[in-house]
Amino acid sequence: MIPRIYIPGDSGALALGAEKVAKAIAKELAERGIEAKIVRNGSRGAYFLEPMIEVATANGRVAYGPVKPSDVKSLFDSGFLTGGHHKRWLGAPDKIPFLAKQTRLTFARCGINDPLSLDAYKSLGGLKGLQNAVAMAPADIVKQVTDSGLRGRGGAGFPTGIKWKTVLDTTSERKYIVCNADEGDSATFADRMIMEGDPFVLIEGMTIAGIATGATKGFVYIRSEYPHAVATMNKAVEIARKAGVLGVNVLGSPNAFDMEIRVGAGAYVCGEETSLLNSLEGKRGVVRAKPPLPAIQGLFGKPTVINNVISLASVPIIMDKGAAFYKDFGMGRSRGTIPIQIAGNVRNGGLFETAFGLTLGQIVDDIGGGTATGRPVKAVQVGGPLGAYFPRALFDTPFDYEEFAKRDGLIGHAGITVFDDTADMLKQARFAMEFCAIESCGKCTPCRIGSTRGIETIDRLAAGIEPEKNLALVTDLCNTMKFGSLCALGGFTPYPVMSSITHFPEDFKPASARVAAE
Ligand SMILES: Cc1cc2nc3c(=O)[nH]c(=O)nc-3n(C[C@H](O)[C@H](O)[C@H](O)COP(=O)(O)O)c2cc1C
Ligand code: SF4
Repeated sequence: MIPRIYIPGDSGALALGAEKVAKAIAKELAERGIEAKIVRNGSRGAYFLEPMIEVATANGRVAYGPVKPSDVKSLFDSGFLTGGHHKRWLGAPDKIPFLAKQTRLTFARCGINDPLSLDAYKSLGGLKGLQNAVAMAPADIVKQVTDSGLRGRGGAGFPTGIKWKTVLDTTSERKYIVCNADEGDSATFADRMIMEGDPFVLIEGMTIAGIATGATKGFVYIRSEYPHAVATMNKAVEIARKAGVLGVNVLGSPNAFDMEIRVGAGAYVCGEETSLLNSLEGKRGVVRAKPPLPAIQGLFGKPTVINNVISLASVPIIMDKGAAFYKDFGMGRSRGTIPIQIAGNVRNGGLFETAFGLTLGQIVDDIGGGTATGRPVKAVQVGGPLGAYFPRALFDTPFDYEEFAKRDGLIGHAGITVFDDTADMLKQARFAMEFCAIESCGKCTPCRIGSTRGIETIDRLAAGIEPEKNLALVTDLCNTMKFGSLCALGGFTPYPVMSSITHFPEDFKPASARVAAE
């Protein structure tokens, strides 16, 4: 059997030099006259080890990483094609602690094989959920998803089954499934990683959603910054269509479902579901007032399920293994697993799928390995640009929607950004207001005007002008934005601002006072 070498081709690994490594390996194979098959898999998500290449040996896969093009000659000299020892040797991939500690349900296949091989997908359990779904009544599928406890992974944590039930119960000659792949939050890349590393799981999840609710058409709205994901998803849809996974008779059943990939134009607010629907309809990405809910009047005025990539990609395993299996993982009302994306100033950056319930400290210190700079962790922002900054004093918070809310925080799309003790939290608070001002859709006053007034007020604080008065003003402004904004862009910007003020008051003293204190 000719050797097989796995080199990730997803954009995360490419950004870290995987293409150069692939070229160097191909060149070395040619020069040494060795016949081998190079498979471009997705990444397994341990980005601190990328480019991580793997070889299939008689004793299973052996990984090496992070591999540089300059390592390639010595890898061949060390006999890496049969798992030989080398300074980049990592051993069996599933024994690497970062991967071994995970519970992979949604990402079970991600990074193992060629993402566009439907046969590989099926050989690893793919399509079993859909096979079960086509034999079930729509209401029973919806019930199974509801019973699993799955909640939306896009940010709001709304129960997926309840959303689907509203669409199922709304009579219409046309319904849609829209997948939200705008993934605008800082530190997040789970949607991208799965679309590039295991695209069929999303297609399978969307098809199940269609059959469950009576929708025959689906759209994936992908941000323009993700060209690799767009290309992979387009190819995967084509393959699924040819194989009869999509089309007028899904897997030979009487159910019809087909889908299209659409590309956004680069606005954070277009990740907000109603703004996204406007954008999909070719209109300006402005937030719509609710009601009506998209589940009743969504895309082109028709009942629409709009779900995040990870919510939909988690459905196949629920339909395969059952609601009880999925619900068994997690804590409280946060059931199943969540792909936590660890980024920022952190040693072990990457995607870590685990059952809900690990504490923030375990995630940052044990799994993330502390800061990349080796300095103490000062703050961790959880949930993207609208998430709160947590100090070390709150590191005992379990990763759970309700537990984070109790401490004025949010999980969002489960991206966490680590900051060391050089971070200036006044600057971070100002950045939150600035981000809101730039990304605001402009529909409502608290967000459109408030964010700019927020920047000005924080600037006055930084300059030491009437600190007490301006601190009170920012607090008051945050209250107005929180309770008076139409959507969570204006409504949640107070979280990073107020958490900075509450947990890091020393950073809000005038610059001169801070210099004196130091
Ligand atoms: C400003 C803003 C940006 C958002 N961006 C995203 C996004 O990029 N991806 C996403 O899935 N949800 C995003 N959301 C949440 C969506 O509005 C919506 O709750 C989600 O798509 C529903 O899917 P889910 O129930 O599967 O989470 C955003 C919300 C707001 C207010
Ligand atoms: S809060 Fe901001 S983004 Fe949301 S509707 Fe109002 S102006 Fe638009």
